[in-house]
Amino acid sequence: MTKNTTAEKIREFLERKQQLGTMGGEKMVRKQREQGKMTARERLDLLFDKGTFQEVQLFVKHRSTLFGLGEKEINADGVITGFGQVNGRVVFAAAQDFTSAGGSLGEMHARKIWKVMDMAVDAKKPFVALNDSGGARIQEGISALNGYSGIFYRNSIASGYIPQISAMMGPTAGGAVYSPALTDWIFMVKGISYMYITGPDVVKAVIAEEVSHEELGGPMAHAEKSGVCHFVSENDEECLRQIRLLLSYLPDSCHSPLPIAPCSDRADRECPELDTIIPDRSNRGYDMKKVISAVADNGELFEPHQFWAKNIVVAFIRIMGRPMGVIANNPGFGAGVLDVNASDKAARFIRFCDAFNIPLLTFTDLPGYMPGTRQEWAGIIRHGAKMLHAYSEATVTKITVVVRKAYGGGYIAMCDKGLGADYVMAWPSAEIAVMGSEGACNIVYRREIAEAEDPAAKRAELAASYEAQFNNPYFAAGLGIIDEIILPRETRMRVVAILDAFKDKKQIRLSKKHNNIPL
Ligand code: HXC
Repeated sequence: MTKNTTAEKIREFLERKQQLGTMGGEKMVRKQREQGKMTARERLDLLFDKGTFQEVQLFVKHRSTLFGLGEKEINADGVITGFGQVNGRVVFAAAQDFTSAGGSLGEMHARKIWKVMDMAVDAKKPFVALNDSGGARIQEGISALNGYSGIFYRNSIASGYIPQISAMMGPTAGGAVYSPALTDWIFMVKGISYMYITGPDVVKAVIAEEVSHEELGGPMAHAEKSGVCHFVSENDEECLRQIRLLLSYLPDSCHSPLPIAPCSDRADRECPELDTIIPDRSNRGYDMKKVISAVADNGELFEPHQFWAKNIVVAFIRIMGRPMGVIANNPGFGAGVLDVNASDKAARFIRFCDAFNIPLLTFTDLPGYMPGTRQEWAGIIRHGAKMLHAYSEATVTKITVVVRKAYGGGYIAMCDKGLGADYVMAWPSAEIAVMGSEGACNIVYRREIAEAEDPAAKRAELAASYEAQFNNPYFAAGLGIIDEIILPRETRMRVVAILDAFKDKKQIRLSKKHNNIPL
């Protein structure tokens, strides 16, 4: 009812606002908590710096009348949108409210998300989606689907322009999984989130396979097996803390400066532990993450895709406060070999960093690409090509350190000089060759070995001479393919100096519509 005096109007406004703030009501909020989930508003309070979240379009209502919706009030239409500050920087967000009609997405719910995404693009600030929804609002039919496609469109157009992050904090089924898939980063929370195209019931009906929600699309399924999920959290709080941490490494947009953090580490710090990290026997593994953390400011690294394709590590670090993306083979897993998944993981990370002007640091130690029918038939040619493409098109500063093995296509794929590395260093332990010495001799000296009195001894003798020629950094350095051979302990100080020297690097590529990366 319309009020007359200003005081009455203000009271009415506050009452309406208060009512909308109750979300799906006490019972539904209790149910949400019983499931170990926070409400959308509590999540936003934790995502943003205290008291900075500003809600927009709170009063939006759905306008559907079918299947009983005409009489149904859905507070805020099941999604809370707005902006606030994260670590003192503006970020836009949408948080679905499962307590209101299951956070289901109808026309107006979608329009609220469109609006806040458009604002994020116009303001050139990151966008975070906290997803907790039963999917398309069934009563609204095609309007709901249209809502999703408008989100997918915006995700795609904003890609590479502003960072986009999705946190899965509840169920996500069907086509609803594709907005997260189109964003840069996906977080999942143990025990409460799952993502799949079709749920266990449909799977059973169609292909007679029995599988639980968790096995099919839980956080670990996507973190370890599919690679869909980049970060797994124990609970809502941890997830929101991790999102804040990730944002601290990212610029607001592709046109914004990198966030430089205060740095208490030294530019000339030596890393003596790196002089002894490479085992004497070259077929032994070691933990590449120790190399990365030795070089990083204060030993800190933030690692997406920790559980997937462990043969390669990607991580954000800081060097003198400046964010940097690291790509490193991990000889501790499968000798650090490149396979389909490792190539995808690295290529996507390289492209993200380049899109947002984050310089790249590559550590090379790999025997090459993984041979065999499984990898060939899975398309290692197509997937491996993604890394070549991603490194080549990247215009950020690219620094490569050949730590140990750099063989054949693997040497190139880890950003050699030819792919545009600005500066390539090698440790004295580097082995840079077309292939391993025994394999090389089996091909080049096949006849000599076969005709020798003692073929094994002959092979060993020839392999030793091949190794002396190629399995070291000196031949490559002699050709200028390696810019500098350094002591391992000097790695951090060299990276600091090179990054600083190249800080004004600007490379212009051919004018065209867009690249055609092998997908
Ligand atoms: C409308 C929905 C809804 C939906 C949930 N609700 N999902 N309303 N459309 N998609 C409502 C419920 O009716 C209920 O309303 C309230 O939200 C809470 O739901 P519950 O079922 O009580 O919650 P819970 O027991 O926790 O189960 C959660 C759930 C279940 C497993 C997610 O709700 C569910 O199966 N929902 C449907 C999931 C689904 O099939 N979605 C796919 C839609 S197709 P009341 O009024 O009783 O409180 C799709 C395609 C998108 O998304 C394509 C994009 C390209």
